[in-house]
Amino acid sequence: MSEPVLRVKDLRTEFAVRAGIVKAVDGVTFEVGRGRILGLVGESGSGKSVTGYSILGLIELPGRIAGGEVLLNGVDLTKLKGEQIRRVRGAQIAMVFQDPMMTLNPVLKVSTQMIAAVRAHDNVSRKVARSRARDALATVGIPSPEERLDAYPHQLSGGMRQRVAIAIALLHKPAVIIADEPTTALDVSIQGQILAEVRRLADETGTAFVWVTHDLAVVSSLADDICVMYAGRVVETGAAADVIASPRHPYTAGLLASVPAEHEPGERLPQVPGSAPSLANLPPGCAFAPRCFKAGPACNTTPPVQHFEDGRTALCHYPIEPDSCQPLSSTSTTYQNAS
Ligand SMILES: Nc1ncnc2c1ncn2[C@@H]1O[C@H](COP(=O)(O)OP(=O)(O)OP(=O)(O)O)[C@@H](O)[C@H]1O
Ligand SMILES: [Mg+2]
Repeated sequence: MSEPVLRVKDLRTEFAVRAGIVKAVDGVTFEVGRGRILGLVGESGSGKSVTGYSILGLIELPGRIAGGEVLLNGVDLTKLKGEQIRRVRGAQIAMVFQDPMMTLNPVLKVSTQMIAAVRAHDNVSRKVARSRARDALATVGIPSPEERLDAYPHQLSGGMRQRVAIAIALLHKPAVIIADEPTTALDVSIQGQILAEVRRLADETGTAFVWVTHDLAVVSSLADDICVMYAGRVVETGAAADVIASPRHPYTAGLLASVPAEHEPGERLPQVPGSAPSLANLPPGCAFAPRCFKAGPACNTTPPVQHFEDGRTALCHYPIEPDSCQPLSSTSTTYQNAS
């Protein structure tokens, strides 16, 4: 991979709650190259959104970044304060949320919002800003962009609103866009169109994406690389195709085994048997051990990051051997027996 544009190193984000300190993100490390798409996956509560918010400097009390680095082209965003991070956010790194109304103001026309977004970082005339807004709408596949500019958000379909939110994220040609399940609420054919546009944008503009999703079908169709999270930690990384073809971490194998054959993109995944642990009260050692079909005596101690061929990693004492040809159905049977 060429020099990564985004490097997240040992990121730790905590929330001080009544039950104690919740380590929502606990030593997360990954990197994304120019024009690459990283799929960030894991069950509900695994820390995907908190990772995204932490990268953008959007964590508020009772949360705080307790350690680590977020290097955007070598600059550590965690060290930037107020106005400094606001100058970077939206210009060099942007976020797309699951609900486009997190980005859009319902009472303002699309043009008003997009012109303001352009002029927040670039000192250009309203006319120039409007033409940049129109170009951005065209880039994300919005037909008749000139007319859409004069619409209010409620006059657009859900898919169109999300395209507008992506267009706003793209306005300043950021190095990185963090997208937090932006297509999950959309119907499958609209989702497919947007994913195809995103793939094209990454290839053509060089913008790197971190694409947060529950949906392994989305990852396999969209992502170059994958990062699997469990209980605030990264448990497996690698090229998406390799990890999906031959997972090394038992949790990833469980996620894959729980995808029904007739799984439709956009459908929520059934969960791996057993329930996700409480982050305020994790077992010592490997947090996945109580649900794991491969758990052994070492698992009550902290698992090592194992490095495999082609830069893959797994956080596990007993990773799955690649040539063990473990059929996924037998993996899932073992899970059922174990729970
Ligand atoms: N404001 C907060 N206060 C306290 N704890 C929080 C807060 N926000 C997040 N957390 C904790 O962080 C954990 C991770 O949350 P996060 O939203 O990142 O999960 P997620 O992987 O995005 O899940 P989902 O798939 O449901 O969106 C949660 O389980 C919760 O315990
Ligand atoms: Mg989330």
